[in-house]
Amino acid sequence: MIRVGVSGAAGRMGSTVCDAVEAAEGMELAAKADPALDTELSAILGEVDVVVDFSTPETALDNATACLRAGVHVVLGTTGFDLDALRAVADASEANCFVAPNFAIGAVLLMQVSQTIARHMPECEIVELHHDRKLDAPSGTAKRTVELIAAAGGNVHEPVHSVRLPGLVAHQEVIFGDEGQTLSVRHDSIDRVSFMPGVVLAVRRVAELPDRFTVGLEKLL
Ligand SMILES: NC(=O)c1ccc[n+]([C@@H]2O[C@H](COP(=O)([O-])OP(=O)(O)OC[C@H]3O[C@@H](n4cnc5c(N)ncnc54)[C@H](O)[C@@H]3O)[C@@H](O)[C@H]2O)c1
Repeated sequence: MIRVGVSGAAGRMGSTVCDAVEAAEGMELAAKADPALDTELSAILGEVDVVVDFSTPETALDNATACLRAGVHVVLGTTGFDLDALRAVADASEANCFVAPNFAIGAVLLMQVSQTIARHMPECEIVELHHDRKLDAPSGTAKRTVELIAAAGGNVHEPVHSVRLPGLVAHQEVIFGDEGQTLSVRHDSIDRVSFMPGVVLAVRRVAELPDRFTVGLEKLL
């Protein structure tokens, strides 16, 4: 049984993760941490094997650092902060850190398809659309998509277009343009359950990963 702690457990993603962990086989929801629940992350680290963090851009680095220094594996979904500092902490620790800017399989496939298209139609723009309480822009998914398209030889025009409106969850469109034609690829997360199979898979796999620091759900597929 993997003992799972959820950091940011009172939030939109954290509460959905709590339900997913409780429903998954081979793991148990051992503890929840969130200032909104009056429970500090440091208070639960002795009770868990893996922490899943969906907190805030301001708190995720400190949270993940505390876990790794305590020897607790981290599955990190929070976006909007610099991952390089976290990589250094993970490399010096005795635990593993798995980060995914997007845990939805459809978004991972969108990024992979975009790389394929970019080899033939390099010029493109990204429109990402999220609910109006999202704190960071552009989204972590958009930043990752820019990196992957660039690595495939594509050219994402600046800036990424960020739309924030009530009613949205998490959506992204990549539009490729060439002489006399365009090609658009779009992914829509219309419910936060779309992220849960990826989160549960990461919880199962994080302890056995070959590297201390791993980015991208595609590495687990
Ligand atoms: N990787 C993905 O697939 C994915 C998908 C959706 C959202 N996200 C990201 O997840 C994060 C959370 O999104 P959300 O919509 O659930 O936000 P939210 O505002 O609903 O929840 C954040 C929670 O973090 C809590 N919190 C604040 N300080 C904390 C601390 N020090 N330790 C622990 N918890 C703390 C808050 O009280 C709140 O309950 C955002 O960065 C968002 O961009 C990632």
